[in-house]
Amino acid sequence: MQTVILPSGNSMPAFGLGTWRMGEHPERFGREADVIRSALDMGITLLDTAEMYGEGGAEEVIGEAIRGRRDGLFLISKFYPHNASRNGVKEACERSLRRMDCDTIDLYLLHWPSSVALAQTFEALHELQDQGKIREFGVSNFNLSDLQKIPEDDQSRLGCNQVYYNLAHREVEWEISGWCRARGIPVMAYSPLDQAGALLGSPVVAAIADKHSATAAQVALAWLLHQPGTVAIPKSVRPERIRENLDAANVELDADDLVALDEAFPPPKQAVRLGMR
Ligand SMILES: NC(=O)c1ccc[n+]([C@@H]2O[C@H](COP(=O)([O-])OP(=O)(O)OC[C@H]3O[C@@H](n4cnc5c(N)ncnc54)[C@H](OP(=O)(O)O)[C@@H]3O)[C@@H](O)[C@H]2O)c1
Repeated sequence: MQTVILPSGNSMPAFGLGTWRMGEHPERFGREADVIRSALDMGITLLDTAEMYGEGGAEEVIGEAIRGRRDGLFLISKFYPHNASRNGVKEACERSLRRMDCDTIDLYLLHWPSSVALAQTFEALHELQDQGKIREFGVSNFNLSDLQKIPEDDQSRLGCNQVYYNLAHREVEWEISGWCRARGIPVMAYSPLDQAGALLGSPVVAAIADKHSATAAQVALAWLLHQPGTVAIPKSVRPERIRENLDAANVELDADDLVALDEAFPPPKQAVRLGMR
């Protein structure tokens, strides 16, 4: 499994499983936990979740799925901006740890910018780190102006900026990718398949997929994995698709493919804010 290096020197898998929309229906709980277990059996070690997903339900599904096999996993969770106060972050973290039935979150993210002063939020993140309750912290959906408001010392300690990023949404490339790369901060691409929307029906993507005996989803993911310091976290509740997505790591796009994809899905040519799901 390809990895990326965080500013701390720790590494993180470049590919993981998203869990948005899991944990929303009690009757699907067991099946979703089985799906996550089969993803772990396939070798996936990074799981992305948030207190928002199913209002804690997705974290509970993860807790069930990883029981007895926490070692070697890289768990990411996110707290709500309305929990970004000093006490709010600490309480939210305790709840997430309880739901996932574990002692540590590997990377804990502020889900999107908050009106709480960031100094307070980061003070709480430092305390959680000192107590061993989180290993790394970072942000999500942060535009450049948001990143620049982070206390200066912490700007270069972010474990990632998790953003809406896929072939059809390259806004992050305007200025945020460069800012992160200059500091060794990974960019984590959420909705990497653009939620299975029009991207997967693109004739250009289909032609490249044919050439590599791959699928459209694999081309979309291989393109992201080709971007330096980038992590992709596609979500699926179908083991056969999780296997398909994981195998994207074996698709090697060549220079012609990259040019064709740039023409079909051009990067931004002017200042543009991040998209958001
Ligand atoms: N930080 C944030 O604000 C934020 C926002 C959005 C998402 N996220 C995170 O990023 C993860 C991924 O993003 P996402 O769930 O929005 O979208 P996504 O991963 O781009 O797409 C998920 C959709 O694609 C389908 N799918 C998965 N693999 C497929 C394949 N090989 N072929 C065709 N369809 C496929 C899934 O259906 P099935 O499940 O039926 O296979 C699901 O409907 C989330 O789960 C979450 O963990 C973070």
